[in-house]
Amino acid sequence: LRLLTTGAAGMLGRRVVAVAQERGWDVTGIDVDEADITDATAIGAVVANLDPDVVVHCAAYTNVDAAEENEDLALAINGAGAGNVAAAAAKTGARIVHVSTDYVFDGENDKPWVESDAPAPLGAYGRTKLAGEHAVVAANPDHAIARTAWLFGAGGPNFCDTMLRLGAERDSVSVVTDQQGCPTWTGHLALALVELAAAPETGLFHTAGAGSCSWFELTQELFERANVDCEIKRTTAAEFARAAPRPAWSVMASERREAPRLPAWQEGVAGHLSETISR
Ligand SMILES: NC(=O)c1ccc[n+]([C@@H]2O[C@H](COP(=O)([O-])OP(=O)(O)OC[C@H]3O[C@@H](n4cnc5c(N)ncnc54)[C@H](OP(=O)(O)O)[C@@H]3O)[C@@H](O)[C@H]2O)c1
Repeated sequence: LRLLTTGAAGMLGRRVVAVAQERGWDVTGIDVDEADITDATAIGAVVANLDPDVVVHCAAYTNVDAAEENEDLALAINGAGAGNVAAAAAKTGARIVHVSTDYVFDGENDKPWVESDAPAPLGAYGRTKLAGEHAVVAANPDHAIARTAWLFGAGGPNFCDTMLRLGAERDSVSVVTDQQGCPTWTGHLALALVELAAAPETGLFHTAGAGSCSWFELTQELFERANVDCEIKRTTAAEFARAAPRPAWSVMASERREAPRLPAWQEGVAGHLSETISR
């Protein structure tokens, strides 16, 4: 299979390239230096030249807080940009696997979000990512949209690495207890994306680490496994205010039998730590 990955300099994209290469696929990774996805002509030319069977689209504007101030730019990248990539893929007859987010939901639920639940983003980032989903659906009928959440992994800033750094520097850290979600290791998600790349099914797929926890519980798991001696204090989202509102309940599950299932989030933490420690 010939696979093209966008956002290949980012945390998830680099892992998709590595996983697909391990499968023996013909893989090319591109980032903004090769083609800015807001430039339909530029990305169209790169995709046409490479003529892939499938494009895994990981490039995005991912700064959730900064998106509140820069929604136009975030929309150009996450909305129209995603549509440009999907259209370029469609033109060469390629499938697109598009990565989206739990932040398309408002957090008002008492059970895991499934694919048929109605999205209602709380903030600019979620709105732009939802626009991207719509743009992908409109531009390429052969699409799989993989919504994921709370990503961590090698090669990009993420919550787990921040907490490991703070845990080494400080006697205590304060972590939010009232947001619940599905931590997802890029090592697990990339396998699921590669599986979706080769699958015939189209539409939405919820692909996040199995189980759920709060940011506080994630930090507990992380510090226990990494033997970090640092007190974890409880705080709330209201006390730890940030520019963008976050959904309180971001837990996701799939109602689709054919959706790839990821391992438990704790296994993702273990996988990440085994790499972090061996680095
Ligand atoms: N991180 C999370 O917790 C999380 C959760 C749910 C879903 N997701 C989704 O997962 C995907 C991958 O996220 P990630 O954490 O791997 O993001 P990332 O590390 O920020 O990688 C995104 C890559 O896209 C590139 N990019 C930005 N604008 C571009 C443009 N106009 N043209 C071409 N490339 C551009 C970025 O380059 P620069 O760095 O130079 O801007 C970066 O290399 C995204 O779709 C994201 O929305 C992430």
